[in-house]
Amino acid sequence: MSGIICRASPSLAVIKYWGKQDRDLNIPATSSLAVTLDGLFTETKVKSGNFTEDRITVNGVRQQPERYAGVFACLRSLLGSENRFEAESSNNFPTSAGLASSSSGFAALVCACALTAGRKISVKQLSETARIGSASAARAVYGGFTALEAGACFAETIAAADFWPELRVVVAVTEEAQKALSSRDGMLRSSASPYYPAWLDSSKDIFPRAVAALKHKDLPELGRLCRLSTYRMHAAALSADPPILYWTPRTLALIQECGRMRRKGIGAWETMDAGPQVKILCLSDDTAVISNALRRSCPGIRIIVSRPGGGPQWRYAGENEDEMRPLREAE
Ligand code: DP6
Repeated sequence: MSGIICRASPSLAVIKYWGKQDRDLNIPATSSLAVTLDGLFTETKVKSGNFTEDRITVNGVRQQPERYAGVFACLRSLLGSENRFEAESSNNFPTSAGLASSSSGFAALVCACALTAGRKISVKQLSETARIGSASAARAVYGGFTALEAGACFAETIAAADFWPELRVVVAVTEEAQKALSSRDGMLRSSASPYYPAWLDSSKDIFPRAVAALKHKDLPELGRLCRLSTYRMHAAALSADPPILYWTPRTLALIQECGRMRRKGIGAWETMDAGPQVKILCLSDDTAVISNALRRSCPGIRIIVSRPGGGPQWRYAGENEDEMRPLREAE
C-alpha cells in the first residue's frame, strides 16, 4: 500500500513544560501554554502492514526503536491491530536544535499511523498517544493555542489559530546543528537541582496568569510571563550538577537586543527552549524592525517569521501537496 503523509507544525511553549511528574508515563510536572508555529513542519510518511518490526527514519537516519516503542504499542492497542509501521520523517527546519522538532515529529507520526489504519481515533486520544513519545507533542496535534497541564495525559485547545491574527513569533536560528543535550536528559538532570522545587512552585502561579493574558490578548503581560517562565526554567537547568547551559554568545546577543528594543517601546519578548535559538513574541507591525535589529546584532542568523498555525494535515502518498486536508475530529 502507498501510505499516508501527515504534516504537523511545532508547538512553541510560551510557558514551559520542564520536568516530569511520572517519568515512565511521561506526564509533565509543570503546566505549559503553547502556540503552534505556521510554516515550520515535520512531514511523515507511514505505511502499516505485516512487517517484522517498526522502523522509523528522521531526515534519512534510522532511529533507535526504544524511543518509539511505547507510542507504536499504544497505537496498536487503540487501533486493535497487530500491524507494524514503517515511517519516514523529515523536517523543513533544524532538527533537535531547540525548535520543538520532537513535538511536530511525534504529532505527525501518531496522526499518520492512526490514519493508515482507517480507524476513528479522537484527537484527544492522539494527544495522549503523542505525549508518550514527547509531552510537547501532546500539544502539537492541535493547531492554535494549547495547554498541557501538570499531571495531565492530554493537551487541550485554549484558542483557535485565528484567535489572535496579529501575533507573530520571530524565530532566530542562531545555530543549525543539533543540541548536545536533549530536553529529556536536561529535565532529568534539572530535577535534582536545589532550585527545581522552586521552579515547580513558581510555574503554578505563572500558568493561569498567562492563560488570562492570552485570552485578553495582552502581549506585554504574556511576554513578561513568558520571559519569567523561560528564565526560571533555565535557572533550574543552570543550577543542575553538572550545570546545563543551552545558550551561545549569539543567544545572549539576541537577548540583549530584545532588551534594547523593549526600552525603546518595541514589544519584543524573547523565549528560549532546550537549545540556543531565540524566539520572539511580538505583533505583526513590529516584525520588520525586530528582524532588522536581530540581523544587525547577529549577522548570519536565519530568521523565520511565523504566525499561529493550524493543526496537522494529511494526504494519501501519491497525491499532490495541494491535496492536504485538515485532520478532523475522529477522522
Ligand atoms: C523546553 O517534549 O521534548 O521545549 O517529553 O521528554 O520528549 P520529552 O520532552 P519535550 O520537552 C520540551 C521542553 C521545552 C518546553 C516545552 O515545549 O514546553
